[in-house]
Amino acid sequence: MRIAMIGAGYVGLVSGACLADFGHSVVCIDREPEKVASLNAGRMPIYEPGLDALVAENVRQGRLAFHTSLPEAVAEADAVFIAVGTPSRRGDGFADLSFVFDAAREIAGALSGFTVVVTKSTVPVGTGDEVERIIREANPGADVSVASNPEFLREGAAIADFKRPDRIVVGTGDARAEAVMREVYRPLYLNQAPILVTDRRTAELTKYAANAFLAAKITFINEIADLCEQVGADVQQVARGIGLDKRIGPKFLHAGPGYGGSCFPKDTLALVKTAQDAGTPLRLVETVVAVNEQRKRAMARKVIKACGGSVRGKTIALLGLTFKPDTDDMRDAPSLAIVAGLQDAGAKVRAYDPEGMDHARALMPAVDYAENAYACAEGADALVIVTEWNAFRALDLDRLRRTMSSGSAPVLVDLRNIYDPASAARYGFTYCGVGRSKENAAVSAS
Ligand SMILES: NC(=O)c1ccc[n+]([C@@H]2O[C@H](COP(=O)([O-])OP(=O)(O)OC[C@H]3O[C@@H](n4cnc5c(N)ncnc54)[C@H](O)[C@@H]3O)[C@@H](O)[C@H]2O)c1
Repeated sequence: MRIAMIGAGYVGLVSGACLADFGHSVVCIDREPEKVASLNAGRMPIYEPGLDALVAENVRQGRLAFHTSLPEAVAEADAVFIAVGTPSRRGDGFADLSFVFDAAREIAGALSGFTVVVTKSTVPVGTGDEVERIIREANPGADVSVASNPEFLREGAAIADFKRPDRIVVGTGDARAEAVMREVYRPLYLNQAPILVTDRRTAELTKYAANAFLAAKITFINEIADLCEQVGADVQQVARGIGLDKRIGPKFLHAGPGYGGSCFPKDTLALVKTAQDAGTPLRLVETVVAVNEQRKRAMARKVIKACGGSVRGKTIALLGLTFKPDTDDMRDAPSLAIVAGLQDAGAKVRAYDPEGMDHARALMPAVDYAENAYACAEGADALVIVTEWNAFRALDLDRLRRTMSSGSAPVLVDLRNIYDPASAARYGFTYCGVGRSKENAAVSAS
């Protein structure tokens, strides 16, 4: 199959590279010339484990190419995927579809022969109808079918997710388009990935429903964590106790600073708007959005409280800035709100992140960036683990303790619960986790 991928961001680049690796011939098109030049020079514009090697190998095999110009690749393609961004629209939070519609207009003029135009971007219900209208209006003679194929990959595990998906959702009512899509994903039949073929609107909504459900699961355990702190229970054990129930499952039950990233915040918001417009408000999702929003800033207050009620003049060291490990993505990361909250309260913030500091510098110029975790902790009054990078899971607590402020027990605020409260206490830290009551920490320390 010949495939054109419009947009070479996280989704377009990973999907394009994986589809090439399946044996298809893929051209990724991006409107940013620097991005394309960098890809053609073998440099990845994003950090994603394994991506550089996958791209290099498929470019070498002649199955993957990068261009800024769209017409030739689209004219030759059996399937054209739209994988451009759909950020929150300023003002009302609905998905900004301007990139999708621009891409549709550009594609329309270049179509030749039967082509399936596939929306891979996360788009609100009915967007496929509008994409189809745009294309038919611009090119009435085109032999085209517009399908939906939402993407469920996770940053940090994107290649594995794309190659071994739990399911593939294809939204089309057209047998020819379905046949093309089945051919695109044929290599995955070997892994027995279920293909769910639905109508277009159902596929579009399925993506939002999945993200809203996962966001709700995270928010649920975060609220349970708050309750645990008040009543002397341990959220880690509560999560395990409910997660072992097969009806619930253990994933997305890790209490923390609130969800962030390029998808959950904007997608939950867009779903709320879609539902309001449809006259069927999703009260549960509205609450999830509100609770999560206030939680990020609340984490700054949590740090301040752990520091005895004031951080004015104190140095607070943050480990991890990206919204999750194994990515350099800073979009809507909880660290942004936490840093702002701490700086507003008069703290001097120092930070270290293994991959995210380039992006972070642009967003948070007043932060002092360190070379590594220990340099970050040097002389600090409190150390806050914001993102659970593997590199932070087995820090030398003794060295860390000695590196930090020489005052009384320095504070370790573990927003991901990756350390055992008792051993942190043994190393001389005043430990503060999420959903782990002081009583529990004291009990397990004794
Ligand atoms: N990032 C994720 O983990 C993830 C997961 C699943 C779904 N999604 C969805 O996939 C879509 C893309 O997300 P992303 O994170 O890859 O975005 P991104 O911002 O990383 O990439 C989008 C790319 O599209 C390019 N672009 C925009 N308009 C273009 C045009 N007309 N022609 C050519 N290139 C164009 C941009 O230059 C950019 O490089 C979004 O709808 C998102 O919600 C993202």
